[in-house]
Amino acid sequence: MERFLMTIPAVPEMTSEIWIGRGFPDPFLPERGYRRTAAIFSQHGAATVARRVFDAVGTAPLMYLPDRDEAKTMAVVEKAYQWLAEVPLGRHDTVVGVGGGAATDLAGFVAATWLRGVESVMVPTTILGAVDASIGGKTGINLGGKNLVGAFHLPSRVIVDLDVMDSVPTSLRLEGLAEALKSGLIADAALVELFEKHGPSAPLDEVVTRSIKVKAEVVGSDFREDGRRAILNFGHTIGHGIEMAAGMPHGMAVAVGMVAAGAISAQRYGFPSQWLTDVIFSLGLPVSAFGVSRGSVLEFIGMDKKRTAEGTRMVLLRAVGDPVIDLVGDEEIDLGLAAVGIGSSG
Ligand code: GLY
Repeated sequence: MERFLMTIPAVPEMTSEIWIGRGFPDPFLPERGYRRTAAIFSQHGAATVARRVFDAVGTAPLMYLPDRDEAKTMAVVEKAYQWLAEVPLGRHDTVVGVGGGAATDLAGFVAATWLRGVESVMVPTTILGAVDASIGGKTGINLGGKNLVGAFHLPSRVIVDLDVMDSVPTSLRLEGLAEALKSGLIADAALVELFEKHGPSAPLDEVVTRSIKVKAEVVGSDFREDGRRAILNFGHTIGHGIEMAAGMPHGMAVAVGMVAAGAISAQRYGFPSQWLTDVIFSLGLPVSAFGVSRGSVLEFIGMDKKRTAEGTRMVLLRAVGDPVIDLVGDEEIDLGLAAVGIGSSG
């Protein structure tokens, strides 16, 4: 099993251990000098892994959350607090989140706020969760908009079991590959080459490990997103607008968003956008969103607070591995939307 530490140079006491391998580390919880317990939050879709975590921790109470983003509400947070009070979970105990991004976002937020913050351990069960949501300490719930309430709270350990990644169903796997490709485009040309060479059969162990290393490095350089961390949002500005307007799954919408951002990057910097569209297409990911309303996409981009009077803040690419955070005008957004089939008549 590969183990590496994510450190935040500006805050030396902040460290997150990331384990990538097959099976769980032993002991499952990081060792500390005192006896403690854990409480597990999971979702029914991740029940098999949750059961293994239950055994690995040595019998810990387990609460099942509602499926998908239904888990990320104030009502669920309140139930979770009441349950932790019954457990009871003390200051030196650990919250364990097992599941996809919604489960780990909720578990992380509860850990960040229960008793003013307790340790957390995350066990992602989707590729999206492994390469993005569980890494880097962004936790939160949806309140009006996505993730409008939350906290930065680094998990002390993230356990990525590659056996679990291998068993992710195809559509979820594709979503994860979109996020992994994004990591390659912003910071790891060798990862992009893996996708060019092998398409959707790119070796998953290497894809997941390389993507996590990109995320850990970026987060380590800018934990609170004062600047550089925003490069992780390549494809997400327009992608998120499409996700909200069309109800498209996150990874698929990010794929389309990368095509749109590629087109704008081509106009500004001569980035090879057709090449990027071909790579995304060869992975089996969508490269257009015909029929989606331009008006609603723009409205959701506005709600994301990325669109201001001066323009929309977006990540563009000057080249693979050379991202830039730019203010983009409405005409350029339209060019990006047109590149994915979203026209001004919508
Ligand atoms: N998902 C983007 C970030 O963690 O900053």
